[in-house]
Amino acid sequence: MTRGVACERTKRAGLLALAAALPFGALAQTNVPDAVTRRSGLRVAPMPHAAQTYATNCQGCHGELGASAVEIPALAGRVGYFTRSDAGRRYLVQVPNVALNPSSDDDIAEVLNWLLRTYSRPQLAAGFRPYTAAEVATLRRARIDVAATRQRVVDELVASGAIASPDLLALPATPLY
Ligand code: HEC
Repeated sequence: MTRGVACERTKRAGLLALAAALPFGALAQTNVPDAVTRRSGLRVAPMPHAAQTYATNCQGCHGELGASAVEIPALAGRVGYFTRSDAGRRYLVQVPNVALNPSSDDDIAEVLNWLLRTYSRPQLAAGFRPYTAAEVATLRRARIDVAATRQRVVDELVASGAIASPDLLALPATPLY
């Protein structure tokens, strides 16, 4: 028992001595991920700015790969269908979490273009024109009734033959709100 306590004390003293012996800079650096990454020799692919905007502003709900909880509509493999009509194109900017997001018009245009091309390229309208900041600035001012607008957009896409079936954009059975 006494031996155990003494042993603990020696260990602690040893650790303190080690910490004191290290230059302050070396200790501070171990807390900086960049320094750790550098030392480990790991090569991390640079993250595009739009991917960072997505990670910070959208990923919490929509998931890292564009699909998450069943209550939230999947973006991967289908969000591009909306670009096949003007109303659908407007809807993607006016959906509340996009329109009201604190990101700048530039960042919203960039993240939408990135999202569409990264997660839903095959579904994009032929000759898709990327969103511009000016277009986002105008469109995001509108407040829409999400459910009604989305329904109209999907009906129109089906009626015009832009998509084969409303099932391609079916909403989850239990919407979040
Ligand atoms: C708080 C959770 C949340 C965040 C954050 C969020 N979304 Fe959403 N998103 C939703 C929900 C829920 C819907 C379904 C429509 C609705 O109820 O507003 C949706 C719908 C969408 C749609 C339309 C999909 C469809 O099938 O109707 C797009 C596009 C979209 N979000 C993109 C984004 C982007 C881009 C961001 C980041 C700038 C973002 N969302 C941030 C929850 C979120």
